[in-house]
Amino acid sequence: YIEKVKAREIFDSRGNPTVEADVILSDGTLGRAEVPSGASTGELEAVELRDGGDRLQGKGVSKAVNNVNTEINKILHGADPFNQAQIDQAMIDLDGTKNKARLGANAILGVSMATCRAAANYQKVPLYRYLGGTDLELPQTFHNVINGGEHADNGIDMQEFMITPVERTSFRDGFEKIANTYHTLKKVIEAAGYQTGLGDEGGFAPDLNSSEEALKMLHEAIEKAGYTPGKEIAIAFDAAASHFYDHDSGNYNFEGTVKTPDEMGDYYVKLLSEFPEIISIEDPYGEDDWDNFAKFAKKVGDQVQIVTDDNVCTNPELFRKAIKMGMANSFLIKLNQIGTVTETLEAIRIARKNGYTTMMSHRSGETGDTFVADFTVATNSSQLKSGAPARSERVEKYNQLLRIEEELGENGSRLAKFPNDVDFD
Ligand code: PGA
Ligand code: ZN
Repeated sequence: YIEKVKAREIFDSRGNPTVEADVILSDGTLGRAEVPSGASTGELEAVELRDGGDRLQGKGVSKAVNNVNTEINKILHGADPFNQAQIDQAMIDLDGTKNKARLGANAILGVSMATCRAAANYQKVPLYRYLGGTDLELPQTFHNVINGGEHADNGIDMQEFMITPVERTSFRDGFEKIANTYHTLKKVIEAAGYQTGLGDEGGFAPDLNSSEEALKMLHEAIEKAGYTPGKEIAIAFDAAASHFYDHDSGNYNFEGTVKTPDEMGDYYVKLLSEFPEIISIEDPYGEDDWDNFAKFAKKVGDQVQIVTDDNVCTNPELFRKAIKMGMANSFLIKLNQIGTVTETLEAIRIARKNGYTTMMSHRSGETGDTFVADFTVATNSSQLKSGAPARSERVEKYNQLLRIEEELGENGSRLAKFPNDVDFD
């Protein structure tokens, strides 16, 4: 049983405070988890509790930490760590709000994840094995190698330009191709006379003039690294369009021009014809612009994966609404958008049942915790985006997948295909 739950304030990859939670079992077994934090957050995400005030730019999490150490510790003492659903529900009930605003989603998620870890450690099995079944596959990974939008101070309005390995013989083989392309991209950016400093997710953040220029550079880097765009390495992007959506006019203020929703759609279609290696587009429209989002998804959805993130925030209720509207054909999954492991699993189940693919995701503010790598494998989520193949808080997730591939390798490991199988299990 759970003896004690304890949290502390630690720091994330942006130097901002975040929650680390420990769950200690009666035999002394420890489970520990660190909570990530986003910058381009959806309006309807569960609430990350921050202290406000002067200390640490108001971003302190001492209130969330205190909630773990007092109220949550009190109700979980004696609880069964193997009953994850019951533990998560107890914290949801204790919080009492719809969006975890009282105790903080950062407090609740830390304990939720640490409970899984403690249970796995008690059974002496890897986390992916504790949470998952026996037939597991290694995901296709999406690597944000040019950072724009809220993640970098440059002239690019789209947030993430990603490369992803398609044809590969193993997870390791795919990752090597990505690393080669990343290093080649650096040379391409240098040759064009731009700075090669990094953005929040470890990708380069050159001060380019347009998103199209970023895509051209990816295309060139893939070729120069010796691969065929669309064959070994494909491209994906997250426009995170809420950040250039004008709520009042309903138009998009995009890279120096004002575009109507239809013009925005034409622009994306032009990119798709110019760069046929684009296989996935995330958040092409703002989070309040559901109708145009759905219209666009219906238009191009059989040609390309359309991922929705900011509109639906890993929320089972919002997933149902999006499915009804035909919003997209893929959901982004972020544990801290909803705040418990159990609700995240429910969201994944709803996605699968309705034929939607799932892309698991890190946050732009990350820690060294590799929970999301194990969670991707355990849920056969098939896709994971966790930033560039650089900077430890990003690469540790991929390193964990290399370890998992090695472990699964004894039984012949399976690689996720694109577009992946979404059968419900
Ligand atoms: P965030 O961005 O972690 O800064 O919210 C990630 C995303 O928009 O997918
Ligand atoms: Zn996003």
